[in-house]
Amino acid sequence: MAPRWLDASLELEERVGALVADLSGQDKVAIALGEFDALTTRGLPAPDYVDAGTGLRDVPGATAFPAGIALASTFDPDLAREYGAAVGREARAAGFTVLLGPTVDLARDPRAGRVPEAFGEDPHLSGLIGAAHVRGAQSNHLICQVKHYVAYNGEDRRTGYGFGQLRGDAMDVQVSTAVLQDAYLRPFRAVVEAGAWSMMGSYNRINGQYACESPEVLAIPRREWGWQGFYCPDFLFAVRDDARALAAGLDLGALGGSGGRTREMVEAAPSGVVDALVTNLTRALIGSGLVDHPPAGHSSASGVSTPVNRDLAERTAIASTVLLRNQNAALPLGPDVASVAVIGPSGADALYVVGGSAAVDLDPNRLLTPAAGIRAAAGERTVVLAQGSLGDVPLPTVPATAFTLPDGSGPGVEVEFSDGSGRRWTEVLADIDHAVAAGDVASRWPGRWRTRLTSAASGPHRLSLNVGGRARLRINGTTVLCGSREADQFIHGPHYPLQTVVDLIAGDPVELEVDYEEGPAIAIPPMGIGPVLRLGWQPPDALIGQAAAAAGACDAAVVLVNQACGEGMDRDDLALPGDQDELVRRVAAANPRTIVVLNTPGAVRMPWLDEVAAVLQVWYPGERFGAALAAVLFGDAEPGGRLPLTFPHAREHLPGGDHGPDVVPTRLDYDADGGIGYRSPGIGEHGAAFSFGHGLGYAATSCAVTGHTVVDGRLRIEFSVANNGTRDTVQVTQAYARISGSAAELVGIVRVPVAPGASAVAELEVTSAAIARWSAQAARRVPVEGRHRILLGDSSAVTWAEVAVVIADGVLTEATLVHPPE
Ligand code: BGC
Repeated sequence: MAPRWLDASLELEERVGALVADLSGQDKVAIALGEFDALTTRGLPAPDYVDAGTGLRDVPGATAFPAGIALASTFDPDLAREYGAAVGREARAAGFTVLLGPTVDLARDPRAGRVPEAFGEDPHLSGLIGAAHVRGAQSNHLICQVKHYVAYNGEDRRTGYGFGQLRGDAMDVQVSTAVLQDAYLRPFRAVVEAGAWSMMGSYNRINGQYACESPEVLAIPRREWGWQGFYCPDFLFAVRDDARALAAGLDLGALGGSGGRTREMVEAAPSGVVDALVTNLTRALIGSGLVDHPPAGHSSASGVSTPVNRDLAERTAIASTVLLRNQNAALPLGPDVASVAVIGPSGADALYVVGGSAAVDLDPNRLLTPAAGIRAAAGERTVVLAQGSLGDVPLPTVPATAFTLPDGSGPGVEVEFSDGSGRRWTEVLADIDHAVAAGDVASRWPGRWRTRLTSAASGPHRLSLNVGGRARLRINGTTVLCGSREADQFIHGPHYPLQTVVDLIAGDPVELEVDYEEGPAIAIPPMGIGPVLRLGWQPPDALIGQAAAAAGACDAAVVLVNQACGEGMDRDDLALPGDQDELVRRVAAANPRTIVVLNTPGAVRMPWLDEVAAVLQVWYPGERFGAALAAVLFGDAEPGGRLPLTFPHAREHLPGGDHGPDVVPTRLDYDADGGIGYRSPGIGEHGAAFSFGHGLGYAATSCAVTGHTVVDGRLRIEFSVANNGTRDTVQVTQAYARISGSAAELVGIVRVPVAPGASAVAELEVTSAAIARWSAQAARRVPVEGRHRILLGDSSAVTWAEVAVVIADGVLTEATLVHPPE
């Protein structure tokens, strides 16, 4: 007879109980140390992890889907479920049992490097999309390990600064329970309620304790939300005291292996700890369906991606494209446009994926570049390509002939080295292109480069500095570049150089100095990651002029601009890197029908906004980039996206100003933010360039409330949507609550498809549960008593109806339509 834990007809707890009872004490110790033979011999699969933020990492041939932030911008949980299901299917097909994702960390700081992996700045939207993703993925009988629990919202000092033993502590987030509960924990709660079987503990500290070592932090999902899954820590640096983490409730010690756990530690763990972790893990393995639907083992993976999944990648890319601006119906490009100039990185040099562990390898045979997609869809139109800008890439190495020693005595660069003992010496090297031997950091560290740089050309020169570490570059004493990177390319995806433009005069040398320190650099030689510094440049050339000429000769110009981003770096500011603002300006001056395609991780500044006809926001759209972009440009599909994060007028208007490229503190104060994203005080005061929730379609709609009722504590608002245009559209109605007069917050989304010339009636429901705040007294989020407003709108800034509601004794009792909206 098959053992009871393999009997699918029994209740989950009975199966888990039977299995745990069958394990010996030594079996359990081994499991706590990440050795799973006792499970596999009993017919359970072992946890086998694959990073899958936006598609499978390191699985050749996997579908490269659009980034997480793109999925959020669809505002479409049904699509998110389909996306999760597709990624999960590929993970299972490739033989994995645990999918590392999705990521539901909130976009607190617009510069944060992993914003594009996650679902934006709003807890409700992040939870909705995250939960749908988890439901879809886990429908394949696998485990989602949702990331990164919790308050991990930036890369600076995420794992500390310095090498080896000298690496300091990770970032310490100071945050009250109320702020954690009302913002950062909410998406995690939503994924737990959707059934997520695992969570990854984050790298950072929270109020002085590492998240993975904090009994208070790890207890919240179990105690308050009834979660019964298992925790794993993030890679390498998340646990500093393994015994403490074990006692705190961190189930496994590492993503594979034991981490720093020892047999002695496990044997000395407080009573019940080992039984609990074995129970949590086996419950996930059985409860997810993995035991009843065992993996077939790792496949060659060539068949992992399917046409259906690639079609989904394309649909998601279209549905996530946000039309930010569309003057004089510049888009879609109709029959009146006989020629199009396509400018910027639009071939394989366009950016398709986010960098880091969420990156997906691109299959060059499948990749549909923007240029190819536009050509294929252009029909009879002439398509002219012009590079315009190299985009956000490392520039060619500055040749040694451009360098003269600081005293002018000969060619070269003077480099000051030091070793671990404090010895310092100077050497002359030929150029600024240097990799520090990762295994030998302490014996030869280059701390400063000094030279004179002379160009043979006059005019704007682009400079790029690839950094694994922290660097500051000065020209004639003025800082022109400053920033930190864990590596100049983190695992996969794009490189992350620092970028700037400086004016040089032919034959006129400038003093150039670079200060370099370890900063957050990581050394993992087998992965090719180590400290590095390399200076690249692009002297003045004809690229922008040629692009402007091409634009001037065509009926419309499409300019693609981009910014690389991902794990291990925060952006240094919100400016488009390099010469791309200048490129847009020059193209716009040459062609009034200029359409800018922003392929960026989040908000960027657009100093040229009033000069261009249209702006489309895409976010690392994956391998079907070209097809999706062409469909939107030529009007074969409507750009369906809404902004899942705010585009501020200035970076200072959003939180995160407590650190930046110049200052990287050891702690951040989240309570001082006073709200994040569109709810932050800076946006309240200054407004936004583009608001959370904003996104235009190709058909104008008008909406009106047609009725409202309160029945059994549920407010139902009925409204009509008229499509005044000539195309199908989807009206994305957003409900916001203004709780006791505070900044509005998203509480609901209703997607209303409407045919041209038609109108549709839709309904939106709000209960008191959405109008809640953390109560220390009740130790949970509770409905806030009193009068509040519910706003219906097209974005957080544009609302077209307002309903006043009353909550009494925790129940929504009364609603009144406010005419006109205040
Ligand atoms: C990242 C995680 C990732 C892990 C394993 C870490 O550096 O923070 O998101 O899952 O590596 O690749």
